[in-house]
Amino acid sequence: MSTTPRKILVTSALPYANGSIHLGHMVETIQTDIWVRFQKQRGHHCVYVCADDAHGTAIMLTAEKNGISAEQQIENVQLEHEADFAGFNIGFDNYYTTHSAENKELSEQIYNRLKANGHIAEREITQAFDPEKQLFLADRYIKGTCPKCNAPDQYGDNCEVCSATYSPMELLDAKSAISGATPIAKASKHLFFKLPEFSDFLKDWTRAGHLQPEVANKLAEWLDAGLQEWDISRDAPYFGFEIPGEPGKFFYVWLDAPIGYIASAKNYCDKNGLDFNEYWAKDSTAEVYHFIGKDIINFHALFWPAMLHSAELRTPTQVFAHGFLTVDGKKMSKSRGTFIKASTYLEHLNPEYLRYYYATKLTGSVDDLDLNLDDFVTRVNSDLVGKVVNIASRTAKFINKGGNVLSANNPNPALWQKFVEANNVIAELYEAREFGKAMREIMALADAANEYIAEVAPWTLAKDPANTQQVMDICSLGINCYTALITFLKPVLPKTAEASEAFLGTQLNWSTTLSYLGEHTINAFSPLMTRVDPKAVKGMVDASVESMPEAKQSSSTDNPWLTKEPIASEIEFNDFAKVDLRVAKIVNAEHVEGADKLLRLTLDIGEARNVFAGIKSAYNPETLIGKNTVMVANLKPRKMKFGMSEGMVLAAGPGGKDLFILEPNEGAEPGMRVM
Ligand code: MSP
Ligand code: ZN
Repeated sequence: MSTTPRKILVTSALPYANGSIHLGHMVETIQTDIWVRFQKQRGHHCVYVCADDAHGTAIMLTAEKNGISAEQQIENVQLEHEADFAGFNIGFDNYYTTHSAENKELSEQIYNRLKANGHIAEREITQAFDPEKQLFLADRYIKGTCPKCNAPDQYGDNCEVCSATYSPMELLDAKSAISGATPIAKASKHLFFKLPEFSDFLKDWTRAGHLQPEVANKLAEWLDAGLQEWDISRDAPYFGFEIPGEPGKFFYVWLDAPIGYIASAKNYCDKNGLDFNEYWAKDSTAEVYHFIGKDIINFHALFWPAMLHSAELRTPTQVFAHGFLTVDGKKMSKSRGTFIKASTYLEHLNPEYLRYYYATKLTGSVDDLDLNLDDFVTRVNSDLVGKVVNIASRTAKFINKGGNVLSANNPNPALWQKFVEANNVIAELYEAREFGKAMREIMALADAANEYIAEVAPWTLAKDPANTQQVMDICSLGINCYTALITFLKPVLPKTAEASEAFLGTQLNWSTTLSYLGEHTINAFSPLMTRVDPKAVKGMVDASVESMPEAKQSSSTDNPWLTKEPIASEIEFNDFAKVDLRVAKIVNAEHVEGADKLLRLTLDIGEARNVFAGIKSAYNPETLIGKNTVMVANLKPRKMKFGMSEGMVLAAGPGGKDLFILEPNEGAEPGMRVM
């Protein structure tokens, strides 16, 4: 690895200013922050900038709802975001906003260049318009009945029930989700960025080492399918920047958002007497990296490089996409309490725990990662407390007792050699964003040190004063191992590293070579990290259920049945469609000899079915005959002691007397499919 200082600019995606930071966002900022701290520690000149993404209709509407100006709204949210990030020790060099003078000027400049270069087209398009609010409606602001399956209350562009896609004007009885008014179709002039003209440029650029290979492959599919012009204007009212020479038209939020990276860098450079052209001019030799989630790849790897290219600015060195966070294997959910806000986490747990846990899960790929809450507790406790901090707590007390000065005599050079050799391996893994592998290397070293200490057992040796020097030698090696481990972990655990620096009486700087401390004075040891308390994790999850008002109405806290049995994980419509439910007429029902729970039902669904149902405790067979019910008609037949069961009837309730079979409304006929 090169030792000449590099000049690096790093960004995380700019969080929207209309919502709180949650643990999903933290995947990205923690990943970026670890990488940035690593670069800085290795002596490179690395600047980390970010900002709130402050524009768009959603923010305008939120402000309106809160009865404040959009400016006030984004200011409040920015304060909250900055506090959350600070709580997780994210070391931004600059956190700005896209609603800034710099960003306005840069957006105008860049737009003017695109226009001068002939890359802006104009044409009229017709869109849904809310006549009451006098507002063009984006698809997500229109609701109505699905034209394919008649499901009510579906959003403007796709149906959650049958997955049909359509244009919002095709919805039956469409309504504006904002005012309730019926939208009308209205034409207006829009401005477009002529993306297709950059097809060849992008085919080269996406294959030139700026992207992860799997991302480049995905983009190749899109590029082959052909690019479309990109609509970059929105009509007033819109919270954003007005387009020069186009009164009443504003830049679409995604036009000025990435320019916000440049604006935040400019703001930083101006404050610190640096020349920002060194980062963004066409001939810049600095490295520029964008860390982003996989959902916003097209903006960063197609639109953005094309815009920069047209505007005669440099393009990013690399775009690093990461996957999405799941919690306990599922999408974050407000009702399960796994949609955890950054601030809620911080009220219950130490940020270093999550930084470490994410580090163990992060790779250089776009794979999703899971926060398994049980595993989180186990991993942090066993690795950080049980392995790393344990080395210091087992050895420091002997050094403290023996006068605080470490011995320069290394009693196990082979062990220390392992650390020396791992040094650059670990650095290369950090560089490649293979943090999980780096953590495993580091823990293997911690294991080796612990095994050695357990084997020589300084606590036993210390019983005989004749062994004093030997004990000092062993424990000094232990402290040296700990020093190396914390140096390697410093990008991940900045606060633990800081506390360790105070204890060790030295700054931990990560050089390309690792040196033994020698006769160095340390300070009194105090516990550097405590164990994760599983109760605190539970407290956090409980608090996350409560802090979501919309989840509350249907949450398990109010409904005993949901408490007993939480809603199962989300499924695709196709999963549901596999289940063939039919209206079934109960033509006969009878007791089964020798079975104390079962009734034998003969069901008519246009063909006869024999079904054994465990409802004897709740129903007298005679009362069932002649009723309609609902059955699973395509369930694989099951051989039971009393014969074949060819399906299943649907019933609710805990059992015993409390069992209730479903009965369709009047008019349903045997054989009809239930959807
Ligand atoms: N405002 C845009 C980005 C503009 S960048 C010029 C945006 N904002 S966001 O708040 O929705 O997301 C910010 C970042 O957090 C994105 O990179 C997004 O992928 C990431 N994440 C949001 N939820 C996430 C998870 N559940 N898991 C991992 N990352 C997630 O997009
Ligand atoms: Zn539908």
